[in-house]
Amino acid sequence: SEPLNIALAGLGTVGSGVVRLIETNADLIARRARRPIRIAAVSARDRTKDRGVDLSRYQWLDDPAEMALRPDIDVVVEMVGGSDGPALALARNAIAGGKALVTANKAMIAHHGLELAAAAENAGVALKFEAAVAGGIPVIKGLSEGAAANAIERVYGILNGTCNYILTTMEASGRDFADVLADAQRLGYAEADPTFDVEGVDAAHKLSILAAIAFGARLRFDAVETTGITGVLAADIAQARALGYVIRLIGTAEIDHTDNAALFQRVRPHLVPCDHPLASVDGATNAVVAEGNFMGRLLFQGAGAGDGPTASAVVADLIDIARGEKGAAFSMPSHELEALPPAQSGHRTGRAY
Ligand code: HSE
Repeated sequence: SEPLNIALAGLGTVGSGVVRLIETNADLIARRARRPIRIAAVSARDRTKDRGVDLSRYQWLDDPAEMALRPDIDVVVEMVGGSDGPALALARNAIAGGKALVTANKAMIAHHGLELAAAAENAGVALKFEAAVAGGIPVIKGLSEGAAANAIERVYGILNGTCNYILTTMEASGRDFADVLADAQRLGYAEADPTFDVEGVDAAHKLSILAAIAFGARLRFDAVETTGITGVLAADIAQARALGYVIRLIGTAEIDHTDNAALFQRVRPHLVPCDHPLASVDGATNAVVAEGNFMGRLLFQGAGAGDGPTASAVVADLIDIARGEKGAAFSMPSHELEALPPAQSGHRTGRAY
């Protein structure tokens, strides 16, 4: 059968991982997708850089904008990064050009997801972003499909691997913040600009996407109350420990029924009791808890960053597209809920974990 022809824009950690995964698992991917997935073109800033994969067999494009125009390309996979700029231009043009779009770009989806979803619906193509939230954990699929019949009460979890690595390493070793951050950067977990990690912005991007999926809410990144971990001291961690708690950066989206069923979103360091499942989530791992009215409490846990896990989410989306999926997970016509901004939610303490 006809292959699904894909073009990869951006060949960093995730992009190189996608090439490696498609090459290594080509046969099983073709069986499950019911057709081969073929890399028709690749593009990145630096052609000469050694990425540990042989790119000579793929067509190289100096300008990824060409991907949107080429009739032989079915899907553009955007792994350039950044909420605006070239990534957004490529996403808009690809969809307008009738291509499906798969992206790992949480910042772009958090800021422009509604516009892109509407465009994808109009164009009759798929917009998929499983890799944008919690790396290798299929949490978008889990919530939009697995929990589809439930009224969700609350979604919360550990959404940034860098922060979790830093907090749990500080906890285990007593080392200081800056020293441990440098390790996370070396290991490839941190964003190009690590302030997005440590200030909670990356977790807030992911939380706003999760909330839109889980609650059918209008995606509102600007309404996430966000505090990062730069103020957390080794002494705070030790004090918390003495009281039976650990400190974790938690993103929470929950409905407050006292206020007309409003949705509140916040990211901040929280005390988590040592016997709570999130307390034992170590290193760059992510975990998401969802509470629904019929399913009870679900816990999703796995690698939230890194090439293999994130590439797995990208290629799972490609398999869905190869099987004929169209549209976007949150492009429902009417939104059920409105997330309220921090000024209105800041006084609330939320429930304990
Ligand atoms: N910088 C992110 C993290 C990468 O540390 O979780 C995955 O989105």
